[in-house]
Amino acid sequence: MRSARLKLTLSYAGFLLLAGAVLLAVVWVYLLRYVPDNDQGLLGISPNRFLLVRVFTPAAGAALGFLLGSGLLGGWLLAGRMLAPLTRITDAARLVAGGSLAHRIRLGGRPGNEFRELADVFDAMLERLESRVAEQQRFAANASHELRTPLAISQALLDVARKDPEYDRGELVERLHSVNARAIDLTEALLVLSRTDGRNFTREPVDLSLAAEEAAETLLPLAEQRGITLEVTGEPARTAGSAALLLRMVTNLVQNAIVHNLPAGGTITVHTEPRRYASVLQVENTGPPLPPELVPTLVEPFQRGTERTRVGEQTGVGLGLAIVHSIVRAHDGMLELTPRPGGGLLVTIRLPAPR
Ligand SMILES: Nc1ncnc2c1ncn2[C@@H]1O[C@H](COP(=O)(O)OP(=O)(O)O)[C@@H](O)[C@H]1O
Ligand SMILES: [Mg+2]
Repeated sequence: MRSARLKLTLSYAGFLLLAGAVLLAVVWVYLLRYVPDNDQGLLGISPNRFLLVRVFTPAAGAALGFLLGSGLLGGWLLAGRMLAPLTRITDAARLVAGGSLAHRIRLGGRPGNEFRELADVFDAMLERLESRVAEQQRFAANASHELRTPLAISQALLDVARKDPEYDRGELVERLHSVNARAIDLTEALLVLSRTDGRNFTREPVDLSLAAEEAAETLLPLAEQRGITLEVTGEPARTAGSAALLLRMVTNLVQNAIVHNLPAGGTITVHTEPRRYASVLQVENTGPPLPPELVPTLVEPFQRGTERTRVGEQTGVGLGLAIVHSIVRAHDGMLELTPRPGGGLLVTIRLPAPR
C-alpha cells in the first residue's frame, strides 16, 4: 500500500521533472538561435552568450526545483486520493478474513470506475457467501431437530414401558421398529444429499424413460393400494449421469406424486421426451390445491407443504424434493414446479442431452 503510493508519487514527480527538462532544453535551443555568436569574447565565448548562460541557468534550476517539489507533493496527494478506495477494500477483506460476513464496502462513485467494480463484485460475493452460510446453518439446525425427534419418541416409548409392567412387549417392539426405520430413512436421505452435493459420481449414458419405467414398476403396488392410476408415456430421452442417482430422482418424484395425491381416484402421468439440447422428464399428479406462493419453497430441505405429518402415515422425511433438486443441479439440469390449476403438481426436469 505505502509502497504503491510512493511509487506513484515518484513516477508522477519524475515525469513532471522530465517534461520540464525537455521544455527548458527546447527554450535553450531557441535562445541560442537568436543570440548571435560573434566570436570575440573571452575564452572564445561571445559576451552575449556568456550573459545568457548566467541569466538562464539559475532560472532554469529554480523552475526545475519547483517542478520537483510540486510534483512530489501533488503526486503524494493524488496517489493518496486514488488509492483510498483500495484501503477500504483491503479493510473489508481483513474483516471478512476475521469472520465478519455482514460487512459491505458499498463504495460510491460512478459505475464503470475500476475500483467501484471491484468493490461491487466483492460485495456481491459476500452477499452470496453470507446467504449460503445462513442456509447451511438452517440446514444443520433442521437436520439435528429432525434427527432428535425419533430418538425422543423412542425414549418416551421406553419410559412408558418401564413404568408400566403390563405394557405390551409386542407393540413396543413394533413401534420402536417403525420409529427406528424412519430415523434410518432420514439419515440415508441426509447422506444422499451430501454425496450428491459433492458431485463425485461417474457419468454414464442414461435413458430417462427406462428410469421412469423402473421407478413406476417399483412403486405400482403403493399406487394401487391407494387407488391411484399410474401411467408412463413418451419416448427415450437420453442424458449423461449417474444411473443410480437419476433413478432415485424419478423414484422420489413418483413417490411424492403418490403420497401427496388425492385420497381416492388420483392419477399420475410420468412423461419423457427428447427436445433440442435437452431431455425432459415430467411427473404430473392430481391432488389437493397447492398455494402458489408455497410452491417455490417446497424444494427447501424439511419443507413439507401445508399438510401436517400424520402419525403412522407413510410420509417422507421432507428431503425428497431437496434431494431431487440436488441431483438435478449435479447434472447441470433445471427443475421447475408448477401447481396445477385443479390441484396437484407438475414437476418438469430438463437435463442436458448428450451431443
Ligand atoms: N407431487 C406432489 N404433489 C403435491 N404436493 C407435493 C408433491 N411433491 C411434493 N409436494 C409437497 O412438497 C412437500 C415437500 O416434498 P418432499 O421434499 O418430498 O418432502 P416429503 O414428501 O417428505 O414431505 C411435500 O410435503 C408436499 O407438501
Ligand atoms: Mg417426498
